Amino acid sequence: MLEMLERHPWVWVGAIGLVTGALLGAVQKGRATLWRLAVGRVATTITVDSDDPLFHWVKVWLSRHPYTDRSRTLQAGTDTSQDGGGVIQTVGGIRVMFIPGLGTHWFRQGLTWVAVSKSQEQEAKALSTNGRPASRRESYSITVFTRTPATARKILTDALTDALTGGEGRKTTFYGLSTWGSWMVADQRRARDADSVVLAEGLWEDIRADLTRFKASEAKYRALGVPYRRGYLFKGPPGSGKTSMAVALAGLAGMDVCILSLADPAITDAKLRTLMDGASAGSMILIEDVDAAVSGRNVNTNGNLTTGDSLTFSGVLNALDGAAAKEGRVVVMTTNHPERLDDALVRPGRIDRQWYIGPADHSQAVRLFRRFYPAAESEWASLFADGVPPGTSMATLQGYLLSRADHAALAVAETDRLNAEAESKPEAVEAA
Ligand SMILES: Nc1ncnc2c1ncn2[C@@H]1O[C@H](COP(=O)(O)OP(=O)(O)OP(=O)(O)O)[C@@H](O)[C@H]1O
Ligand SMILES: [Mg+2]
Repeated sequence: MLEMLERHPWVWVGAIGLVTGALLGAVQKGRATLWRLAVGRVATTITVDSDDPLFHWVKVWLSRHPYTDRSRTLQAGTDTSQDGGGVIQTVGGIRVMFIPGLGTHWFRQGLTWVAVSKSQEQEAKALSTNGRPASRRESYSITVFTRTPATARKILTDALTDALTGGEGRKTTFYGLSTWGSWMVADQRRARDADSVVLAEGLWEDIRADLTRFKASEAKYRALGVPYRRGYLFKGPPGSGKTSMAVALAGLAGMDVCILSLADPAITDAKLRTLMDGASAGSMILIEDVDAAVSGRNVNTNGNLTTGDSLTFSGVLNALDGAAAKEGRVVVMTTNHPERLDDALVRPGRIDRQWYIGPADHSQAVRLFRRFYPAAESEWASLFADGVPPGTSMATLQGYLLSRADHAALAVAETDRLNAEAESKPEAVEAA
């Protein structure tokens, strides 16, 4: 053996190399184990995978974190979700979100140190039909350096809640019709608070429960092969809260709102179809004055039937059923004239549920009064409601109370003026 080593000194080099490699490997393994042991004692690691919806909100949290402004390893991605919230720059119409890239990132979340590492599955699970790897699963490992796992969980859930609400409550994006017939962002603001829309007893609960059930039933719809969409009709006299309700509902469900009115002469069959297909997934499409399509919008000013650039009832049905319609879509339609609607529109699949939103009832008047005057004597609300004439719209009540803000006693005493006001208002007569 020694003889062989003497004759072939390069074997020494190899042997030393082998031993050193093994030693280094052991040290590295030992260090990794030590690291895991040490981290296990003072930190909690939470993993979020890309096939979970939370993954998006981890990205939003990271994109908003001051650390991302300093980080030199960034990943840029297109944000197609429209539920936004992240720090997004728009490049040529593409929404780009920057987040820390692959590898481990250390930063402070409040007073606590956090290490976030993003990893990517090495092997794509399958090849897609065009031969390119199917999307790879990614995951974030979030290590929070605090001794108690409960604190780690709280730090993370607080950070994610902040991301979800944009720090001040989630903003809803409102899309309206652009002059060239596509959606454009009309506004971005906090959706109306659901509590501020005062409806007949039980109505809110019923509507909210239906939407919640729908949002939780995607798997069921898919298993049954039923298109995953829901259509609602809010019908009733003007000023009863149909539009306010739709917007508040979207806010509650974290949906953006695309609003159009069929009474708008710019809407044609073709435009409506393009708009319905073009609304982003997971948004609510609010179609106001849906009766306009049935009540003669397809007749031009000379009384002749128009073609091509008109809005027809069958065009509306086609747009609602559109093959390209985004799954998970909620369409809310409103009308003051439900009697004008054709049975073909009001059938499940197009309108799955409908609710009548009527003029103010006694309990609504009581609750609205309490919202305006929380400090007033409790029986005043009832006295006020007793004086509200039947058929008065909530919008009329709101106007009356607003003009007497800070004067609860006046609001109770002057309901006879409300009578006069209500009588002079056509909608109250119609509603009665
Ligand atoms: N139920 C309600 N609770 C609180 N405020 C209401 C209610 N209904 C109407 N209002 C107030 O009246 C105004 C008009 O309401 P909204 O536009 O929602 O009515 P609408 O039913 O959509 O009317 P229209 O049929 O004319 O479109 C809003 O400023 C809203 O704040
Ligand atoms: Mg309305």
